[in-house]
Amino acid sequence: MTTNQELFDRAQITTPGGVNSPVRAFRSVGGVPRFIKRAQGAYFWDVEDKKYIDCIGSWGPMILGHAHPDVVKAVQRAAENSFSYGAPTEAEILMAEKIVELVPSIEQVRLVSSGTEATMSALRLARGFTGRDLIIKFEGCYHGHADSLLVKAGSGLLTFAEEGIDLATNAPSSGGVPQDLVKHTLVLPFNDLAALQAAFKQFGPQIAALIVEPIAGNMNLVQLSPEFIKAMRELTSQYGSVLIYDEVMTGFRVALGGAQSIHGIRPDLTCLGKVMGGGMPMAAFGGRKDIMGKLAPLGNVYQAGTLSGNPLAVAAGLTTLNLVSQPGFFKTLSTRLTHLLTEMTTLAHAAGHDFATDHIGGMFGIYFAKQKPRSLADVTASDIEKFKRFFHAMLDHGVYLAPSAYEAGFLSITHDERVIEEMLSAAKKAFKKI
Ligand SMILES: Cc1ncc(COP(=O)(O)O)c(C=O)c1O
Repeated sequence: MTTNQELFDRAQITTPGGVNSPVRAFRSVGGVPRFIKRAQGAYFWDVEDKKYIDCIGSWGPMILGHAHPDVVKAVQRAAENSFSYGAPTEAEILMAEKIVELVPSIEQVRLVSSGTEATMSALRLARGFTGRDLIIKFEGCYHGHADSLLVKAGSGLLTFAEEGIDLATNAPSSGGVPQDLVKHTLVLPFNDLAALQAAFKQFGPQIAALIVEPIAGNMNLVQLSPEFIKAMRELTSQYGSVLIYDEVMTGFRVALGGAQSIHGIRPDLTCLGKVMGGGMPMAAFGGRKDIMGKLAPLGNVYQAGTLSGNPLAVAAGLTTLNLVSQPGFFKTLSTRLTHLLTEMTTLAHAAGHDFATDHIGGMFGIYFAKQKPRSLADVTASDIEKFKRFFHAMLDHGVYLAPSAYEAGFLSITHDERVIEEMLSAAKKAFKKI
């Protein structure tokens, strides 16, 4: 028995499913999850000392590569002064100032500890601000696991849907979520302009917020059309609903100013996470000052956190944001990814596969399909079985892709030309094998 298998068996005795977050369990691709021992730059090593090129980067945060020396030093320095105070620090002000500088739609920001907390709090705030209950979300978008958002959510939940949990319209996509709560969540197909217009026509004055992954990364990578983006902004403004860009994944990942800087859109509220914590548990939500002013202690919308603005997380996050702000950072990342995906497509086609890709900044999607998808239905229609075989072939050749066809991939700035050549050499063999 392999050491990974031994650890997985052991983990399942004391931890449900052997993992602390479902997608780590490899349920959607089969096989034994790798237990990681350490990581450096673009690589990680499992407990059997097998080396992998890491293409998930902790599901987004590790844009600088693993254990960047400046981030490690910043965290060590902060740790020497204790791990948490429960009282404010100057570093939290610096962090807020940096976020406000990089994302101009954010006039004020509150730090929290996870993306789930950020979206959950942003929704409560939007409801408190508007005095309305109804929210709009889109099929295949995942916004964390707050109750009212677990309706047709992406990735991890889609894997479980395959195993039989009902994803019928407006049924909760998780057990334990009251139908009573879900009735306040209107789920629309991603990128469907007519459905969006119809929803606002019928329910506009009741809609507190529209929340969207502006570049979806939880049903693989799927981009919105310019017309759809424009309509989301116009309709929410027209009806006084709060437009929430959930940039937990895309923030400081697709561009320095996030997806909103690419879209040329000023959302009312933005949720951030992942990169902004540099791998430490930190996230945020922020936006218009008049809306943020409704938050306690100023307003009557309650939100709090013992570890919010944690000094170690702030040290890691601020150092990370300073490094990604360096000129040319995103151009380099994107140029390398363009090269990788162009070459991969050539190799896939040469081996006779339908294959398409998409990428933006340091985030990418690969699809065993003729064209890149525009909706959850398109992703589902791609050759998922072939993806599973490809995933395992790549893993055998030392490349750790996201273990699900419903997940985007993430490269770091340490995935340089040499690493990319290694990936291409693995892909060439993998495409032949599947
Ligand atoms: C777009 C988006 N929003 C929210 C979340 C939830 O973040 P967390 O896992 O930190 O709670 C995620 C996590 O993958 C995400 O991708």
